[in-house]
Amino acid sequence: MLVVLTSNHEELNREAGRIVGNAVRQNPALRLGLATGNTMIGVYHELARLHREEALDFSRVVTFNLDEYLGISPTHPHSFHHFMLENFFSHVNIDPRNVHIPDGTITGDYEKYCASFEDDILRAGGIDLQILGIGRNGHIGFNEPTSSFASRTRLKVLSKATVDDNRKFFGAGETVPRCAITMGIGTILASERVLMLVTGAAKATAVAHAIEGPITSSVTASALQLHADATAILDEEAAAQLKQKDYYRDVMEMTRLFTPSRLS
Ligand code: GLP
Repeated sequence: MLVVLTSNHEELNREAGRIVGNAVRQNPALRLGLATGNTMIGVYHELARLHREEALDFSRVVTFNLDEYLGISPTHPHSFHHFMLENFFSHVNIDPRNVHIPDGTITGDYEKYCASFEDDILRAGGIDLQILGIGRNGHIGFNEPTSSFASRTRLKVLSKATVDDNRKFFGAGETVPRCAITMGIGTILASERVLMLVTGAAKATAVAHAIEGPITSSVTASALQLHADATAILDEEAAAQLKQKDYYRDVMEMTRLFTPSRLS
């Protein structure tokens, strides 16, 4: 995994915005995998700024979101649909017909629905660039510990740790969803390129396990070690527990010299 160390959240936003922006410029019909969570807000604002000030064009970009809570309607203020509209889609010229987010309101044949979401990705030609955050327990998407590395989009029961983390977004007395529809680890690994963005001290242990720990389904982000083109962009706090930071700095310097496309 290519590890990019930044000094703070603002620098991380700029780096991630630059990489995604360049990908869109290189391929205006980019198939872009998207994530939700506080970490992503600054990146989406940076992309909106690039759209406003530097004419970054999203009109042909096709998006696939990682996940959505089950039992939550798209208009619910805490749905990931709402998050995406508020923080990104309403600020750029994305075509709503090109947006794919799992439907949290489906009932009945969940497996059929999830297979159709996978079909949509396949029909579009696969995901070129998948953006990811990480949960405190090392999850990506909503792939909780012990998720299969071969898993595809499916209904997933959320762990107590994740439900507790999500509680802050919901009002007092509001029920926090206990299940979600999420792309699988296999879905994520099938994307051409993966960009994991992590900020803050609360994620430092998860980051260290994911990047330097053994590959294990107990930390599903460690599956990214199996991906040929995965980059992790970290702020200083998130990188705090990594043991090989000096090496990552050397690699960054050499990558800039010899294979700059990996950082652009
Ligand atoms: C949820 C999402 C993940 C995200 C994580 C971290 O669990 N399903 O995709 O990475 O939250 O969110 P935050 O950036 O708010 O810490």
